[in-house]
Amino acid sequence: MKKIIPLCFVLIVINVYSQKFEGLAKTPPMGWNSWNTFETNINEDLIIGMVDSIISKGLKDAGYTYIVLDDGWMARERDAQGNLIADPVKFPKGMKHLADYVHSKGMKFGLYNCAGKLTCAGYPGSRGHEYQDARKYAEWGVDFLKYDWCYTDKLNAEEAYITMRDALYATGRPIILSICEWGNNEPWKWGSKVGHLWRVTGDITNCFDCEVNHGTWSSWGVMKIVYLRDSIRQYTKPDAWNDYDMMEVGNGMTAGEDRAHFALWSIFASPLIMGNDVRNASKETIEILSNKEVIAINQDPLGIHGFKYMEHDSLEVWIKPLKNDAWALCFLNRNTHPYSLNFDWNTHTIHDKIFNKKLQFSQGVYTIRNVYTKKDIGTTKKALQTTIPAHDVLFVVVKK
Ligand code: GLA
Repeated sequence: MKKIIPLCFVLIVINVYSQKFEGLAKTPPMGWNSWNTFETNINEDLIIGMVDSIISKGLKDAGYTYIVLDDGWMARERDAQGNLIADPVKFPKGMKHLADYVHSKGMKFGLYNCAGKLTCAGYPGSRGHEYQDARKYAEWGVDFLKYDWCYTDKLNAEEAYITMRDALYATGRPIILSICEWGNNEPWKWGSKVGHLWRVTGDITNCFDCEVNHGTWSSWGVMKIVYLRDSIRQYTKPDAWNDYDMMEVGNGMTAGEDRAHFALWSIFASPLIMGNDVRNASKETIEILSNKEVIAINQDPLGIHGFKYMEHDSLEVWIKPLKNDAWALCFLNRNTHPYSLNFDWNTHTIHDKIFNKKLQFSQGVYTIRNVYTKKDIGTTKKALQTTIPAHDVLFVVVKK
C-alpha cells in the first residue's frame, strides 16, 4: 500500500530546516572588521592585538562585540577532503584557537567567505561547499559570517544566500548571516528572511564625498554612500538591517567628518563595524567611536532607520525617532565653510509617515541634549542659533 505523507507535514519539515536563526541581531550588530585597514594582510598576532586594544580602550564596553576576519584568512587551497583551512603562515594555531581566544574575552568571532567559486581576493569561495563550510564554521565556533558576491556568474542572489542560510541553520549553531552583494539585487526586499544585515552599496572608502574609480567598479566616500540609496528605510527592523558598510572613522578624515559619518550611521541604524587600526587610534577617534550617547541612538530598540527631514543651502537635517517619544536630530553641514544655524523649533512639525510618528514642537517644550559634547543645551522654546563647522554636525536628542 502506498504511504501518503500529508502536505502540511512536508511543509512543516521544510520550514524547520529553512529559516534563519531569529533574534541574533535585535539591534544593529557592532564590532570590528579587518578589511578597511588591512585588506588581506592579517594574521593571528594582529587580531589578538586588536582584540586586546578594543577591550583596553573601552570599546568592548561600549558595545563592539564581533571581531570579523575579512578576506585573506584562509589558505589558497582546500585540504584533501575539500575543507577550508586557515592560512598556516598567518594563522599557525588555526581558527578554532583564535575563536577560543576571542570567546575567552567575552567577544564573538566572525569570518568572511563568498557565494562564488572564489572570494573577491581570489581565495576559495563556498560555491558547491556551502554545507561543508558551514559545518566547519560551527566546529570552529564562528558567530558571524560575512558572505560576499564575487565570481558568482549567473547565480540568483536570493537563492544563493538562502542556500548558505539553510547550511548555517542546519549546523545548529546560531550564526549571524551578513549579506554582502552590494545592493545589486535589492537585498532589502528579500534579506530579512535570509540574513540579519545586508550591504546596500559597493565598498566605502576613507573620504567624505569622493568616488574612487577602479575601472570596473568604484568605491565611495561617506556622503556618496548616503546618497547611493534612497527609499529603503522601511526595510530596516530589528534582526534585519540595511548595512551602509564598515566604518572609516579614524582612517584619515577630519574629526568633524568622522563625527558626521558616525552620526549618520547611527541615524540609519546601520551596523557599527569599526574598520580602523584600534591599536594606534587617536584619543579623538576613540572618543567618537565609544560615545555611548551616539551609540544609544544607533542601538535604540525601536530599530527605526532615520530620514532626511529637510535641506537648506549646505545644511541637511537628518532625524530618527527613538523610544519614549525622544528624537535624534543631526544638523549636518555638507559645505567646506562654516554654516550659521538658526532653527526655530516651533515652526517645525515632523511627520514620519512610514513609522507613524509625529513631532510637533509647538505642542510642548523639549529639552535639547548635545550628544557629542554630552551637555544639555537648552530647550525648544528658543530658536537654536549656533555655527556648525565645515563638514561637521550638531547632533542632538530632544525629549519632553
Ligand atoms: C568586497 C566587499 C568588501 C571586502 C572585499 C574583500 O569588495 O564588498 O567589503 O569584503 O570584497 O575582498
